[in-house]
Amino acid sequence: MRRIVICLRKVLRVAETPALLEVEHLQKTFEVRAGLRTRKLHAVTDVSFTVSDGRATVIVGESGCGKSTVVRLIARLLTPTGGTIRFGGSSYGGRLRRRELLRLRSEVQMIFQDPFGSLNSSHSIGYHLSRPLFNYRKCRTASEARERALQTLESVGLTPAGDYIDKYPHELSGGQRQRVVIARALIVEPKLILADEPTSMLDVSIRMDILNLMRKLQRERGLAFLFITHDLASARYIGDDLLVMYAGELVEGGPVDDVVSAPAHPYTQLLLSAVPDVERNTMLEGETAPGEPPNLSQLPPGCRFHPRCPLAMDVCRKEAPKRVQVGENHWAACHAVQGNPGPKVI
Ligand SMILES: Nc1ncnc2c1ncn2[C@@H]1O[C@H](COP(=O)(O)OP(=O)(O)O)[C@@H](O)[C@H]1O
Ligand code: SF4
Ligand SMILES: [Mg+2]
Repeated sequence: MRRIVICLRKVLRVAETPALLEVEHLQKTFEVRAGLRTRKLHAVTDVSFTVSDGRATVIVGESGCGKSTVVRLIARLLTPTGGTIRFGGSSYGGRLRRRELLRLRSEVQMIFQDPFGSLNSSHSIGYHLSRPLFNYRKCRTASEARERALQTLESVGLTPAGDYIDKYPHELSGGQRQRVVIARALIVEPKLILADEPTSMLDVSIRMDILNLMRKLQRERGLAFLFITHDLASARYIGDDLLVMYAGELVEGGPVDDVVSAPAHPYTQLLLSAVPDVERNTMLEGETAPGEPPNLSQLPPGCRFHPRCPLAMDVCRKEAPKRVQVGENHWAACHAVQGNPGPKVI
């Protein structure tokens, strides 16, 4: 009975959870110089998804498919070419004023891939943690900032915090630096954390520790996470919802257990057939599907996956597939998908 109640609560929580972040038809085209000419590189085309309050959404896909560009657009490190981004009900797709940008940055924090490049070697850990508190007007005095920095270092497992706060980044290991980067993101109490492959540059032996830490913090604090990875094993481990990205667009999405247990898109199936088990195997690099992804300046017509797809049909070479519902909150963009009880274009 208790299990049924817990399951019901879980289902209701999913159904009722409001969307914190809504991304609609997001696009980013880069102008790239090739000799004397410039060509257009379509890094992100028509990407739409939502991230709900308190849930961890993961975008998975091969290197170069546009994952980092999506998070950089949301963090407004890049300006979108098209589409809308709404956060907490406010739209911020166009040009932002300084005040709007400050508000956004205090609520949306980013954890970068490289723990070495994201900390300045000439500043102490205490400085790195107190600076955002002053920048975003989250505290007034140096002693208050130090106290919050100590508490946050403890919460990311750098204990006793007094041993770390006056150190410099070069005195810490890669894993410890990434914990500091996580602490810096947490200290301003954001609503959403964007984590761009936060474990991929770490030693294999400590990746699991950092993943565990992020999962624990996300669950305990009820934070919304958008986690980017090329590795389905970590996606499966940390995510509530999974989005699969291929060549600048999303091809499948849904609750992580549903997508992993019943992948509908041939690309997701190929990714899954090469995935190691994160709990048994520690973290191995996820292998990629056979074949090459397309050139983003010369995208193939129809379904972008058709040159690599074992199920490709004539229609796939001509028409881009639309999203089809294949389960509750689970969709795939593929002409071959058979929905149950019947495909419904969404
Ligand atoms: N600032 C940029 N200028 C030109 N091309 C870029 C820029 N940033 C990314 N790209 C290109 O956009 C595509 C997607 O890149 P990225 O979002 O970094 O992919 P991922 O994170 O999935 O590996 C790649 O072809 C990359 O070379
Ligand atoms: S639309 Fe066609 S080519 Fe694309 S994934 Fe589905 S079956 Fe394969
Ligand atoms: Mg990237």
